[in-house]
This record gives sequence, structure tokens and C-alpha cells, in this order.
Amino acid sequence: MSKYAVIGNPIDHSLSPMIHAQFAKQVGLSITYEKILSPINEFSSTVERFIKSGGLGFNITVPFKINAYELTDDCTTTAKAAGAVNTIKVENNTLIGENTDGIGLVNDLCNNLHQSLKDKEILIIGAGGATQGILKPLLDCGPAKILLANRTKDKSLKLAHKFAKYGKVCGFGLDQIKAKPVDIVINATSASIAGKMPEIASGVAEGAICYDLMYGTRTPFMKWAYKNSALKVCDGLGMLVEQAASSFAFWHGKTPQTQPVINLLREKGD
Ligand code: ATR
Repeated sequence: MSKYAVIGNPIDHSLSPMIHAQFAKQVGLSITYEKILSPINEFSSTVERFIKSGGLGFNITVPFKINAYELTDDCTTTAKAAGAVNTIKVENNTLIGENTDGIGLVNDLCNNLHQSLKDKEILIIGAGGATQGILKPLLDCGPAKILLANRTKDKSLKLAHKFAKYGKVCGFGLDQIKAKPVDIVINATSASIAGKMPEIASGVAEGAICYDLMYGTRTPFMKWAYKNSALKVCDGLGMLVEQAASSFAFWHGKTPQTQPVINLLREKGD
């Protein structure tokens, strides 16, 4: 049986083993997919042990996506732009890195939620690792512009400058965002983990698609979006399943169906 895994810290909560088991069942593949908890300072030795034990590929989650990027021998263009990887394929003893987070978000928005991103105005809140992973795939869809707002303004300015070669993206401080509605608002901050919503002019949400990269039935961002007349409010469960599907395709060359797995996870979460 071919061997796969997800490595992170913490890792207990990960839904990836269940998602990959469903995909494997769909396409008739016989694989194992385990959760591996890596000590914070021992990521590379954890990876080495997994590969020695026969591992053929693995996902990487918080906080190791940048360490994983540094460990790769080669990377896709998307992973290079992100400077972080969430998927590694082991091929003839070399590690090939990919980042499927952004394409996972794009596929969820476009295919599952039926939103076109072309010529749209998109506001992203946050300029950390999550934003770095999604910027290029979003810009590749041809939005009119991406407004990048961050609590620490300097970080959004730097990130906007770095990604300007892929499309129109401008950096701001959170307090500079005007109360003027945009088409799509994406929460890419880690504030929801602490049960918080970044302070931002509520008018931007009016009539917008509001998407939290975190998943959960009512994150603080989702509550804020409902309260401020968003057109549609979504959590990141679809993105989670879509990024897993792209990782699965990267390893196995087969694209699984995502909707039945999203439905299954929603039923389990009820
Ligand atoms: P991740 O890899 O999840 O993106 P990160 O790189 O630590 O994590 O980035 C966290 C992001 O959430 C940052 O943009 C951070 O803003 P700062 O750069 O100013 O730190 C943002 N963030 C976290 N808590 C926040 C809060 N309470 N209000 C606003 N932004 C917050």
C-alpha cells in the first residue's frame, strides 16, 4: 500500500486523513494516509523518518509550510511565488513541492460557489502566510484589483509589491479601508482562532461575498459579515476539500469529486 501523511503541530484536529480516504475510495486506490505530529524544531528529521519508512508524499500544515518549502529540491511556480508548500511528492529521492491552498480557494469560489473572479474587486484582510499562498492563484483569475489590508501596514505594502508582477494589487493598513462595498471580502487573518474579528469598516461587506479561510459554522468574521448585509457568507471547508483534491491529483494523477466529500463533512459537523 502506498503511504501518505499530513505533518503539523498541532495535528489532532486534521480532517485530511478522512478526506484522502474518501478520495482514494472514489478512484479505487489503495493508500494509507496518517497524521504525524512533528516537534516544532524537528520538522526535517520527522520528514526524513517518514520517507525512510516508505512515504511517497505528504501534506504540510501549520506551522511548517515555509520549512517545507526550504526542504524541497524543486517546486512548482505557484509554490515558488508563495514561498511555502503544503504538498510534497517524493520522486527518486527528490522532494517536489506544490502549494494547493490558493487553487483550492479558487476552485471553491468558482466551481462550488459559482463566482467568477474576473474583473471583480477583492479585499483580502491579513498579510501573513495564508495570504501569501492565495495571492497568485487569485491574481491569475484576472480580478480588477486586489486590496490587501493588514493590521501591520508595512507587511501588506511589501506583499503587494512582491505580487505586483502577477496583477493589480495594492497594500493598505486596516484603518485605511473605506466603507465602500467590494465584490468579495476574504478573511485571511488568524484572528478567528482567538475568537476575534479585525477592526474594519463594515460598509465593505454590503452585498459582497464574504469568505473566511477558516472553517466553522459561525466564525467571528462570518457573524460580522451576516450583520453587515453580505450577499453570501462562506467558511473555508470547501477550500479545505479542494486543496486536498489538488494535492491528491498532484500525487496520483487522478482528480477526485469534491462535492460528495464536502457534503459528508457538513453532515458530520451538524
Ligand atoms: P498565517 O500563516 O495563518 O497567515 P501569520 O503568518 O502569523 O499566520 O499571519 C497572521 C495574520 O493575521 C497577519 O496578517 C496578522 O496581522 P499582523 O501582520 O498585523 O500581525 C493577522 N491578525 C492576527 N490577529 C489579528 C487581529 N486580532 N486583528 C487583525 N489582524 C490580525
